[in-house]
Amino acid sequence: MSDITNGVRRAHVVEAAPFAESAPNNIKPTPETVAFDAARHLQLEAPAYVKMLVPSVSPGTQHETDRVRFPVPLSASENQDREGANAQCDSTGLPVPFTGLAYSAPFRVLSDEGVEAFRRVVVDNEQFSGCVPSLVPKCIRGLGYRSKFVRDFNYSKPLLNHLSSCAGIGVGPHDMGMNLSQVNFGEIGGGVVNAWHLDSVPFVMVILLSDHRDMEGGELLVARLGDPHKALEMIRADTIDPGMIDRVNYPGAGYAIFMQGSQIAHAVTSVTAARERRLTCVNSYQSLNPFSLNRTVYRTFSTMDGDAPPYEFARHVAWRVRGQLDYLLQKVENGSGGHGEVTEILRDAAAELERARGLVTNTIQDERPYDTDGGAAAEADAAIQNLGTNARATHADRNAVLNAEEGAPVIVEEEEERDPLPVSKL
Ligand SMILES: [Fe+2]
Repeated sequence: MSDITNGVRRAHVVEAAPFAESAPNNIKPTPETVAFDAARHLQLEAPAYVKMLVPSVSPGTQHETDRVRFPVPLSASENQDREGANAQCDSTGLPVPFTGLAYSAPFRVLSDEGVEAFRRVVVDNEQFSGCVPSLVPKCIRGLGYRSKFVRDFNYSKPLLNHLSSCAGIGVGPHDMGMNLSQVNFGEIGGGVVNAWHLDSVPFVMVILLSDHRDMEGGELLVARLGDPHKALEMIRADTIDPGMIDRVNYPGAGYAIFMQGSQIAHAVTSVTAARERRLTCVNSYQSLNPFSLNRTVYRTFSTMDGDAPPYEFARHVAWRVRGQLDYLLQKVENGSGGHGEVTEILRDAAAELERARGLVTNTIQDERPYDTDGGAAAEADAAIQNLGTNARATHADRNAVLNAEEGAPVIVEEEEERDPLPVSKL
């Protein structure tokens, strides 16, 4: 795919796809009594700062300008040459080029009433929880298919606008409905060993729903390196500058962190003490620019979401390609001036569709296997201990593991060497 399609040079924003009309996996709606009401259930507050991706790093370097102020102007991430696309440096207030969201400081999202209502939904649906073997001891996925409250929360415009102002681009709910939302149950002192990882969706918002008082652990660790795979390597080799690892704590229930989890290596430390088990809601988001690089990893979902992934991923690609063709319809110049762009758009749209067909028919794969049970997992865990933390990720993300027994894929599409660290799921 040409670099013109990575969202930098072709700015276009389209509406998010609506939530799917039908549900996979024989999911039926759970009766509920509370309707989502943004006025009562949201309590949107500005994050104290937004951390940007660090494009390059040398050991020991301090980055004075990776903290910027909220709100970040829209299009700051994907259209750097646009006037006004800079963000404001947190310390000086001066304009700085926005390199993309790493993560936000924790900010309030749900009111007390919103937390209570969401916890009621969780209680009503806990019977449908499952696990992701080797990764997440207990979680609910696809809660939006069961709960209109959760669906409406994911599609709430005020919330989406707020998150867009963290990312510097318009964001919408992720196209694959099983991600809307995932709820994770983190037992005190328990759980499987998870570790540093990257997410399989572009952006996530993780909201704490449980009582944080007296909680020890449950801390988000973020490695702010420009190359997240390099970060994973350095963590594993214990060569990372500890100054490049941020630790972020949730002030309380109803607070969230919004992060570009596909671009920053992160982990969550285990909960060693708390008044109750840790409960988090994870919502997934994507850029509203259909030309943005597609950072959704199909293989992850194909191993954990039952019969949903082929349709959900096809839907995702349908939204993207429709948006790309919408750009052609609306913005490409008629006559010879538009020929080059027409050719590129048609070529890339066709390639994207063909790739999707290959993925859902299991004739290609979009990521190499990870070893979660063997030596790599042990090495990764040891590396984390060497950082002087008890950092075992308890937060499930969408980086699932290839089930080695599954299927017989014949082509590994991406030959780049991936770090064999175990990837965790929330
Ligand atoms: Fe994650």
